[in-house]
Amino acid sequence: MQYNNVTLAYGERTILRDISLSIDPGEFVFLIGASGSGKTSLIKSLLGAKRLQSGTIFDDSGRDIALFSPKELLQYRRGLGTIFQDFKLLARKTVRENVAFAMEVCGYSNYEIERRVPEVLAKVGLLAKKEKRIETLSGGEVQRTCIARALIHDPRIIIGDEPTGNLDRANATEIMHLLEDLHRSGKTIIMATHDETIVNTMKKRVIAFSDGKIVSDTKEGTYCL
Ligand SMILES: Nc1ncnc2c1ncn2[C@@H]1O[C@H](COP(=O)(O)OP(=O)(O)OP(=O)(O)O)[C@@H](O)[C@H]1O
Ligand SMILES: [Mg+2]
Repeated sequence: MQYNNVTLAYGERTILRDISLSIDPGEFVFLIGASGSGKTSLIKSLLGAKRLQSGTIFDDSGRDIALFSPKELLQYRRGLGTIFQDFKLLARKTVRENVAFAMEVCGYSNYEIERRVPEVLAKVGLLAKKEKRIETLSGGEVQRTCIARALIHDPRIIIGDEPTGNLDRANATEIMHLLEDLHRSGKTIIMATHDETIVNTMKKRVIAFSDGKIVSDTKEGTYCL
């Protein structure tokens, strides 16, 4: 995917100015920057959920995502699995019900749901806990449920917006191992984070944002703010 001279703003206020960057399939990229530097806005624009002030975002096939029809946009979004800091799960429902519900909403048949839910739960190591209610799980297990949900459409790109933000060290580490596994299986990982320890231990590409610009972009980077 590629950003060409993208400017993002809220009203009169410019958040990111004239950003250009490209992320190849199979890369693992951290987005870092102070609070308010525009990481979430960048992610929203990539999801086609934020209008650009100017510039173009191209998908992996080189198509301008702003020109998608509603149907194409839906299709494109299915190729992007998203994980957020606030889990947005139904606390009273079970792990299985939460993932199944996300599939129902997307119009999958019962047959597909019954086949696919155990598959994605196995991928995140939660098959044994599928009948447990979300409110009875550890933070790491809750976040793994979210990752399972993000895997429903077998996305090529996984986008995390501070997916470890509410987790303690042990649970955060567990989530990072899972993301590494997914990366090894060929997925592109794009993750916004404030977690210095994670960034410094994983030695992946790091893109740093400040004052509306990319201030560094390093291959095996560190948390350099
Ligand atoms: N819907 C909105 N309307 C107006 N301003 C917004 C909106 N969303 C975000 N902003 C502003 O845009 C700037 C960038 O916000 P953004 O959420 O992208 O930052 P961030 O890097 O993700 O920060 P954090 O690390 O705290 O999550 C902030 O100054 C924020 O106040
Ligand atoms: Mg944010």
